[in-house]
Amino acid sequence: MVPKDIDIAVDPDFYTMKGDLDPGDFQSDVADFYPTATIRGVDLFPPPVTWMPPNCVFEVDDVLKEWTWREPFDFIHLRMMYGAFDPDGWHQVYKRAYDALAPGGWIEQVEFDIRCHSDDGTLKKDSLLGGWGDMFLRCSARAGLSLTTQETMRGAMEKAGFVDAHEKLYKIPLGPWPKNKILKEAGHLHYAHWNAALEGWAMWLLTHFGEPEPWTTDEVQVYLAKVRLELKNPHTHGWNYGRRVWARKPTEEELMAKREPMSEPYP
Ligand SMILES: C[S@@+](CC[C@H](N)C(=O)[O-])C[C@H]1O[C@@H](n2cnc3c(N)ncnc32)[C@H](O)[C@@H]1O
Repeated sequence: MVPKDIDIAVDPDFYTMKGDLDPGDFQSDVADFYPTATIRGVDLFPPPVTWMPPNCVFEVDDVLKEWTWREPFDFIHLRMMYGAFDPDGWHQVYKRAYDALAPGGWIEQVEFDIRCHSDDGTLKKDSLLGGWGDMFLRCSARAGLSLTTQETMRGAMEKAGFVDAHEKLYKIPLGPWPKNKILKEAGHLHYAHWNAALEGWAMWLLTHFGEPEPWTTDEVQVYLAKVRLELKNPHTHGWNYGRRVWARKPTEEELMAKREPMSEPYP
């Protein structure tokens, strides 16, 4: 959901996935699509790219710190930030996004559910992938950095003042098993994403909050090697839910209507 008439937009968690597939990145694609708009990508780390469209600006910054941009944004996009913040941090980020948007501007967030499913029973509940999601949900809860962001983001946006919230749920194939061409490509990308990200997702959580007690680095490596084998199995038709939520900052008129009516002047 990118509005048609954006002049300035920000993605507060820029990152480019580099794997055997390089799908590009959100900001560059949006910058190409909206050549007259300025697109800002922000991350704690510099982007691993060698080229970017001229209307795309990357900044290394912490979105939990004060937002210093002065020009209001038309659109703010976040993706795959699950587990990045505790509930107070999330509230802060949505509040800052709210304040940084022009009235009537939109926020969009895309997150996925880490639990894996299959419709045909090929992903066994007692497999490592079958247990992956629930185990990491428990680890992240112990860490105070819940990975349930896809379930909480809509309410958290509304709490920060956003209105007119919409959401859409997708099934994202985990591997190129679907027959449909677009789903096959999505599955291929999602597999590459899992394969590249596994260690980053697992190492810190398991060595600090693993169960029944924190794991050693070697234990995590052995576990991940087995998970990789399961991921590669072409007979497993796994998928994850992905959720997209988009919501609007009230327009100037809506904000005016919400303000307290001025008291009557004395006669
Ligand atoms: C899982 S990656 C997702 C990146 C990208 N949005 C995507 O979908 O490919 C999460 C990113 O959030 C960034 N991040 C985490 N905390 C942040 C913060 N406080 N400020 C800015 N970026 C942050 C991390 O550096 C990392 O690149």
